Amino acid sequence: MARVFSGIKPSGAVTLGNYVGALRSWVAAQDEDDCVFCVVDLHALTVPHDPAQLRALTLELATVLLAVGVDPDRCTLFVQSHVHEHAELAWLMECTASVGELRRMTQFKEKAGDQEFVSGGLFTYPALMAADILLYDTDRVPVGDDQRQHLELTRDLAGRFNTRFGETFVVPEAAILRVGARVMDLQDPTRKMSKSEDSPQGVILLLEDPSSIERKIRRAVTDTETEVRYDPEAKPGVSNLLALLAAATGSDPAELAGRYQGYGALKADCAEAVVELVRPVQMRYAELAADPRAVASLLGHGAGKARATAAETLARARRAVGLLPGSAQSRRA
Ligand code: AMP
Ligand code: TRP
Repeated sequence: MARVFSGIKPSGAVTLGNYVGALRSWVAAQDEDDCVFCVVDLHALTVPHDPAQLRALTLELATVLLAVGVDPDRCTLFVQSHVHEHAELAWLMECTASVGELRRMTQFKEKAGDQEFVSGGLFTYPALMAADILLYDTDRVPVGDDQRQHLELTRDLAGRFNTRFGETFVVPEAAILRVGARVMDLQDPTRKMSKSEDSPQGVILLLEDPSSIERKIRRAVTDTETEVRYDPEAKPGVSNLLALLAAATGSDPAELAGRYQGYGALKADCAEAVVELVRPVQMRYAELAADPRAVASLLGHGAGKARATAAETLARARRAVGLLPGSAQSRRA
């Protein structure tokens, strides 16, 4: 079985885009591969944040992962900061990466932009991401297209470390998630639906009230024509509704287009399908959220499983790079 690793940041409420574009594929991957899934809370510290909110979002995200069907009996699910090996290997990766290559990361440039405060952590973020992946001898990393460059860097760092210090890491492959599964903002369909955008009317949250979901879809931007056609370039709004309906019902957006004469019926069906898609997830979430201690216990167990592998890899890397074994370290190694 291939080892698969992926992570998601607790940086905002989970959107329908996260679910359709990423989390559903995590659930499916459990059937075929040996999966390790991580709520990457350390990554959320790279930008200004509120501590109480981070705690709440981390628990919410972990609970959502369980609610969508990530199954701790069939995979390893944990919170990044519970396995301190991530932070430690990140340091070794920071010392393997060059300032030049970190500076070339387009996501850093975008996020740093004209921010008043840019943390050192935002700059070295890709080294932490590399550590996340390399700790688990990962073969494959399912991520969105925006993470492609970070994955390339991870491969470069793993290769460089192996060349300098001897075979230590498995060099992972990216598994870029289908662009077809990208959900766009309902108010600005040229932009992806994102938890970090300030566009409440354009973003559907996975845990959102069904009546609010229906209202947002009814008010989604379309165009001044009336023809229902799947053409993301010329008709981004209508195409996004078709793509959503297709994603919710497991069909093809272009084929669905032929069934509609007008936008009203398309919106009504789309709203109904999305509500049906999220309803079971919301019910399961409510059950799980009623017992946060049970969730914490599952996460504790997941962290224990993760640490068993992470500690071995870290011990290997420490030895390779020339750190003198300490007493705790020699016990672990
Ligand atoms: P983010 O919320 O941007 O940190 O993304 C977390 C995961 O969800 C990544 O794998 C993204 O590719 C995926 N994702 C985020 N937004 C969307 C979207 N609108 N459509 C499809 N996938 C998305
Ligand atoms: N950087 C990723 C994102 O913003 C999240 C992430 C952190 C990740 N570590 C990872 C994804 C390791 C895959 C593997 O979406």
